Amino acid sequence: MDTVLSGIRSTGNLHLGNYYGALRNFIKMQNENKCYFFIADLHSLTTHPDPAMLHENVKNVLVDYLAAGIDPEKSVIYVQSDVPEVAELYLYLNMHVYMGELAKTSSFKDKARKQPENVNAGLLTYPSLMAADILMHNADKVPVGKDQEQHLEMTRRFARRFNNFYKVDYFKEPVAYNFGQELVKIPGLDGSGKMGKSEGNCIFLSDSAKEIKKKVMRALTDSGPTEPNSVKPDYIENLFTIMRVVSTDEVVDHYEEKWNSCEIRYGDMKKQLAEDIINVTTPIRERILELEKNDDYLRKVVTEGADRARENAKKTIADVREIMGFKSF
Ligand code: TRP
Repeated sequence: MDTVLSGIRSTGNLHLGNYYGALRNFIKMQNENKCYFFIADLHSLTTHPDPAMLHENVKNVLVDYLAAGIDPEKSVIYVQSDVPEVAELYLYLNMHVYMGELAKTSSFKDKARKQPENVNAGLLTYPSLMAADILMHNADKVPVGKDQEQHLEMTRRFARRFNNFYKVDYFKEPVAYNFGQELVKIPGLDGSGKMGKSEGNCIFLSDSAKEIKKKVMRALTDSGPTEPNSVKPDYIENLFTIMRVVSTDEVVDHYEEKWNSCEIRYGDMKKQLAEDIINVTTPIRERILELEKNDDYLRKVVTEGADRARENAKKTIADVREIMGFKSF
């Protein structure tokens, strides 16, 4: 059985794009692997979050993941800051990570451009912290989006470098967990190609039916096609793309026909689309509302998660210290 580690950003609530993009695959992944899911609250410090919001953000993400089906009976779920060994491994790894390679990382250059007033050392060493998360568990596989591939590549390089330097075969080189065909990309309702937090066009798993209806009804449309079988503009194709994911084939075929014969009524289509989205999100939303009130349960999940994560972490730290030459008197 492979060990899989998945790091989750602790910013904002999960949306339909996250659900179809990753979350649904995570739920399957837990059955075939030893999975660790953790909430990366240490990483979030690089952007100086308001202390009054830090815990709330972590809680939201935890609740959303549990509600969507991440199962603490099958997987280890923990909060990164509950495992102090991560910070220790980060320090050790940093001694073998070079300024030059960090400074040319895409995510660093991007962030440095976006927050020129706060180009802190944590931002620069973000890839070392991520490597510490992964190498701590000697993970075989890490599910990553496109934007994280370079970080995973760096983790492999750091692992190799450590092994070479100390002449050991200690760290494994983790590879990307590949979902293949199953990765579905959900477009935005505003005509953009992607549903995303920074795009501000999201349907959240925690949205009420009313909010979802409102968002869908506001989606960009036009006065309809004038030529039979015309090519759909992107913003219309997007509605069909979401429909193909949440609705039945009959529903999709019906609206395809209406489009092709120039009889489409977007009002009807959106009503149907909203209803089918609501069908997907309602059970998750109901669990979110339950879990939010249940701090005892959440505490139990993350306490047990941290205990299990720390079993690996303590062993890794002991090994690494020994490899590096630390000895007790
Ligand atoms: N950097 C990842 C992101 O922004 C989150 C993350 C932190 C992560 N540590 C990780 C992902 C380790 C995978 C493995 O999405």
